[in-house]
Amino acid sequence: MIIGVPKEIKNHEYRAGMTPSSVHELTQRNHTVVVETNLGTGIGYSDEDYIAAGATILPTAEDVFKQAEMIVKVKEPLAVERKRLTKDHLLFTYLHLAPDAEQTKDLVDSNAVCIAYETITSPSGQLPLLTPMSEVAGRMSIQAGATCLQKSNGGSGVLLGGVPGVESAKVVIIGGGVVGTHAAQMALGLGADVTILDNNLHSLRNLNQMFGTTIKLVHSNKASLDEHVLAADLVIGGVLIPGAAAPKLVTADMIKRMKKGAVVVDVAIDQGGCFETSKATTHQDPTYIVDDVVHYCVANMPGAVARTSAQALNNATLPYILKLADKGWKETLANDAHFLNGLNVCAGKVTNQAVADNLGYDYVDPASMV
Ligand SMILES: NC(=O)c1ccc[n+]([C@@H]2O[C@H](COP(=O)([O-])OP(=O)(O)OC[C@H]3O[C@@H](n4cnc5c(N)ncnc54)[C@H](O)[C@@H]3O)[C@@H](O)[C@H]2O)c1
Repeated sequence: MIIGVPKEIKNHEYRAGMTPSSVHELTQRNHTVVVETNLGTGIGYSDEDYIAAGATILPTAEDVFKQAEMIVKVKEPLAVERKRLTKDHLLFTYLHLAPDAEQTKDLVDSNAVCIAYETITSPSGQLPLLTPMSEVAGRMSIQAGATCLQKSNGGSGVLLGGVPGVESAKVVIIGGGVVGTHAAQMALGLGADVTILDNNLHSLRNLNQMFGTTIKLVHSNKASLDEHVLAADLVIGGVLIPGAAAPKLVTADMIKRMKKGAVVVDVAIDQGGCFETSKATTHQDPTYIVDDVVHYCVANMPGAVARTSAQALNNATLPYILKLADKGWKETLANDAHFLNGLNVCAGKVTNQAVADNLGYDYVDPASMV
């Protein structure tokens, strides 16, 4: 198969759909990989690295779209990229179509086969191509929070780990899933006093297996949230109710009653956020202050550590890319119900229930397309 990787064109997006090592895996199997020049320069990969991995460098994204059968990206295609899609293309990338009517219409009109990373499931009920970005965001949330706690950034001037003779900071993590677990690991590593609140007893039991008594595990409800959020120096919001907006677990009134100079990092901001006072921010201007509480609400946290994120994403996507390249999308999806869940738009039809319901399309069972 001919696989094409255009350079991402979203503002400040440096990740690449394929790293040289992923390209190497494909070319070793006699596939052809064409990549746009400077694909990886923002994350330390030169055109020479891609050539050494067996790729052909093309001067423009247009050339990549013209030559390739499968397009591998990171972010959803922007309007100019969508215009290049035809019925002969297979698109494999993050799409997030449910809130995006314009993109959905363009993908439907293109008649291309569009598989979204974020709706592929695993037998254990997880979203394996979202997990690496939650791992990155969870780990990063503690770095971001620690920086916000510094006086010059509006914080209370508390060091997460304290020092001998001085108490460490209280870090409260709401949601003990992927984000919460990775945030807890980092906070523990820095010597903070860590508490996770989750309303799922099964998750709490798993966390107990993982962390033993090194962190406090608390059942999340109104009273426990109020108690722990008010005592915290740093609160990380990492809740998720799949397919729904994040619940506003921390109210504006609770924010008012928090310690002065405390910090909230709302990782769940991409689902609307779990603090009532949250609004999405960017890496250029990541924080704002409400009632003396510093808010960090960046919706694409992994973008800031683009090299790590691209490598982590590739580790997760490569096995899927290889299957699509080796067997073609029809045979691959026909034999894998979890991979089939990734099919969002196909030959002019919407094949994801949530996208169809949200945007008023007729839903077509993806199984009928393979
Ligand atoms: N901002 C970013 O850049 C970025 C990056 C990656 C992920 N995210 C977002 O982070 C959020 C968390 O992702 P994840 O992969 O950790 O999800 P996950 O499903 O692994 O974990 C979510 C956890 O929230 C818990 N939860 C649900 N309702 C709760 C409540 N009322 N009180 C306490 N806990 C509750 C669940 O039991 C679960 O353990 C998602 O919204 C995801 O999209 C954001």
